[in-house]
Amino acid sequence: MNTRTKTALIAVGVMLGFWLLTKGLNSLVRSPGATSYAYNCAQCHGENGEGIGQLVPPLANTDWLEENINQVPCIIRHGIKDSLFVNGVWYNEEMLGLAQLNDIQVANITNYISKRFTKEQTFFTQDKVDELLNACEID
Ligand code: HEC
Repeated sequence: MNTRTKTALIAVGVMLGFWLLTKGLNSLVRSPGATSYAYNCAQCHGENGEGIGQLVPPLANTDWLEENINQVPCIIRHGIKDSLFVNGVWYNEEMLGLAQLNDIQVANITNYISKRFTKEQTFFTQDKVDELLNACEID
């Protein structure tokens, strides 16, 4: 093997190493909100917020979420059973609340979906989320 081939092989090896390293680090630094979303919401709303047909409304690129992002903490905790018109489709199923998620997890998920799925990307402090949770209308 001549020196040029060796150098080329080493270069490819180094690049492959970096690629694997970035992939590994990426999954390690996945935010708590992303992890909680994947675990608690994605089975219905989809990994990419696409929803499920006429059954579960999407979260990604919807006017509904853009306009109602303040309601998300209460929806996570207590669920929602309204008729919702989201991206041109009526949804009439019920979402149950995820009462097992604590206030911090609710804040992390709210910020994650705000950042990932809305243009406004409103950030919610923990205080703000607690305030919203205390004001939920429960029926
Ligand atoms: C078992 C399925 C299911 C799970 C799990 C679920 N949802 Fe829902 N979600 C629904 C359904 C169904 C609706 C529509 C309810 C209605 O029509 O009133 C909905 C509505 C919503 C809405 C309002 C409509 C919209 O598309 O913006 C938001 C926001 C939402 N869910 C967020 C979440 C978040 C965040 C989680 C995870 C913490 C979650 N949901 C977990 C089924 C689910």
